Amino acid sequence: MNIMKSFREILQSSRNVLILTGSGISAESGIPTFRGAGGFWRKYQAQSLATPEAFAANPSLVWEFYEYRRNVANEAKPNKAHEAIANFQNRALKEGKNVTIVTQNIDELHQRAGAKDVVELHGSLFKTRCTVCHEVAVNTNIPICPALKGKGSPDPNVMSSDIAKDDLPRCQKESCKGLLRPHIVWFGESLNEHILQQAYDAVETCDACLVIGTSSVVYPAAMFAPQVAERGVPVAEFNLETTPATRHFKYHFEGPCTITVVEALEP
Ligand SMILES: NC(=O)c1ccc[n+]([C@@H]2O[C@H](COP(=O)([O-])OP(=O)(O)OC[C@H]3O[C@@H](n4cnc5c(N)ncnc54)[C@H](O)[C@@H]3O)[C@@H](O)[C@H]2O)c1
Ligand SMILES: [Zn+2]
Repeated sequence: MNIMKSFREILQSSRNVLILTGSGISAESGIPTFRGAGGFWRKYQAQSLATPEAFAANPSLVWEFYEYRRNVANEAKPNKAHEAIANFQNRALKEGKNVTIVTQNIDELHQRAGAKDVVELHGSLFKTRCTVCHEVAVNTNIPICPALKGKGSPDPNVMSSDIAKDDLPRCQKESCKGLLRPHIVWFGESLNEHILQQAYDAVETCDACLVIGTSSVVYPAAMFAPQVAERGVPVAEFNLETTPATRHFKYHFEGPCTITVVEALEP
């Protein structure tokens, strides 16, 4: 039997679907993945700037990098795969089924496509956290503050701006005014317990699972789909290539996810 048809039949009879996504799902919206060719900003490797050490050493440089990433995400549009997932979730809800979307992405493209209750494992480009009072706030301003206007060009010949700390994004609370940071889980930081629990609940209860556009090398997210497969639940991987986790899964659909995911989820 055609394997896509077989997976679609599994989805039809499932009650509780888990959809795990990584940066590959947004690649066709023009947002580079870290491990692809787009992993550099100026002369820096993106991973080396997404760390608490980099922010402590040079908050101006890290904010320039995030000003750039906020601009890229803001200008990007959800693609057919984001849309297919949001539509699938909405249809499932009407049938009394449950679809949990757990993403490693920070671009909010799932939400902009209309997906609900997205579990953001790594935070969001459009939220800030105060380094003093720890308040988390939604912030969609572009630029995020006057001093960052027009900053963040990825051109390796551009000099860093060395913006004074007082001119970087600051806490809105009059009594605080602390330095803000992106509300993002950086390399070397732990995930929020409550959010992790939401992901584990879905890992333990789902009866079908899709894992889309993730290299399955960043922990703990990389463990989720293999854990689901371990329970004997059918898992389908959607990727341009095989990954270290492929051997655990019943299904592997190779190709751009705007084609394969749409095929799997369309009515
Ligand atoms: N869009 C974003 O929000 C964004 C972008 C870059 C990095 N990140 C962060 O970087 C980390 C990287 O981990 P990751 O596993 O998500 O990404 P990754 O960069 O490690 O892997 C991306 C995967 O997507 C696959 N892929 C690329 N284009 C695809 C397409 N069109 N269709 C299907 N698959 C495709 C690649 O083969 C690869 O396996 C995460 O922690 C994430 O938070 C997020
Ligand atoms: Zn504060």
